[in-house]
Amino acid sequence: MTSVEPDRETVRTAITLATRAPSIHNTQPWRWRLGDGSIHLFADRTRQVTATDPNGRDLTVSCGAVLHHVRVALAALGWATAVHRVPNPAVPDHLASLELTSYDPTDSDVAAAAMIARRRTDRRRMSDWPVSPDHLERIAGQVRAHGALGIAVVDPAARFALAGAIAQAAVIQESAPGYTLELATWTGRARASGDGVPAANIPARGRHDDPDTRRFSHGTLAPHTGKRYGQQTELLLIATSGDDVLSRLRAGEAASAALLTATGLGLASCPLSQPLEIADTRRRVRDHVLGGTAEPQLVIRLGWAPTSAAPLPATARRDVDDVIAASGE
Ligand SMILES: Cc1cc2nc3c(=O)[nH]c(=O)nc-3n(C[C@H](O)[C@H](O)[C@H](O)COP(=O)(O)O)c2cc1C
Repeated sequence: MTSVEPDRETVRTAITLATRAPSIHNTQPWRWRLGDGSIHLFADRTRQVTATDPNGRDLTVSCGAVLHHVRVALAALGWATAVHRVPNPAVPDHLASLELTSYDPTDSDVAAAAMIARRRTDRRRMSDWPVSPDHLERIAGQVRAHGALGIAVVDPAARFALAGAIAQAAVIQESAPGYTLELATWTGRARASGDGVPAANIPARGRHDDPDTRRFSHGTLAPHTGKRYGQQTELLLIATSGDDVLSRLRAGEAASAALLTATGLGLASCPLSQPLEIADTRRRVRDHVLGGTAEPQLVIRLGWAPTSAAPLPATARRDVDDVIAASGE
């Protein structure tokens, strides 16, 4: 291994690909600074959706997802990364610094990076094919490999408690001041804005809505044709032992690994954060789904899209130069 620095174009390419990471309401709440042979990730709190995510959990989890994505992208481009998370406690928004060393990418590095472009958040109903325990275990294994707990919520009582928390959170949020307006602000935006959740990725409201997914307005995505009953979804809960910035960042990295693995297996996926955005429903998930032993950070809904499902369009992203700080900034 040599330690020659990557050129700026390589780093820009990696960040461009990483920016495909999922983020709450597609806010892309991150900023990058480039050093000599290093890259620094910062939280961009100006993009926090405060009515949805008052304490910034979703923002930090989103940054964890982009951190994992950039490592996957760099590995495929021939750069290994040593990561220092929250390297300076005096600057809590400096979430990670990455030192790069040249490296020979493996086939699996390249295959993982290819999943970045293929992954989509799919909010439509799933088909009635079950997700096999082997697939769930492979995805949960990736969560564990990234320092978090990945729990497939299959026990009926736990599943009932989680579904109840999701439904209760929706009711509470929809009557909270500012929530509906904030959601409307971030949905159905013009593509040129480079952010937000487009109408084309939101199912049109109807009697076949999935009760577990967030109720966005303005959706134009047609429901699947064909059978509309008996969908099989699995809910994977990502949790950590603590609930500080580092724990949330790691949860985001683990979520990213889970989503890319699910995409590689051909599964449809959708992150769900709603039940964890309200203190009461989050407590309910912690106590009744996790037995009070861990801190829930994100739910991922998994299933098989019906074979008739139309491919989902890619959501927009901000220009890479808008997320890389100019030198001296
Ligand atoms: C921390 C986090 C929380 C999210 N919460 C939800 C959610 O509750 N409901 C939902 O439909 N999508 C949720 N998403 C998915 C984002 O809306 C999605 O990633 C974004 O719109 C970009 O679209 P894409 O994932 O298809 O690229 C969440 C994503 C992240 C990273």
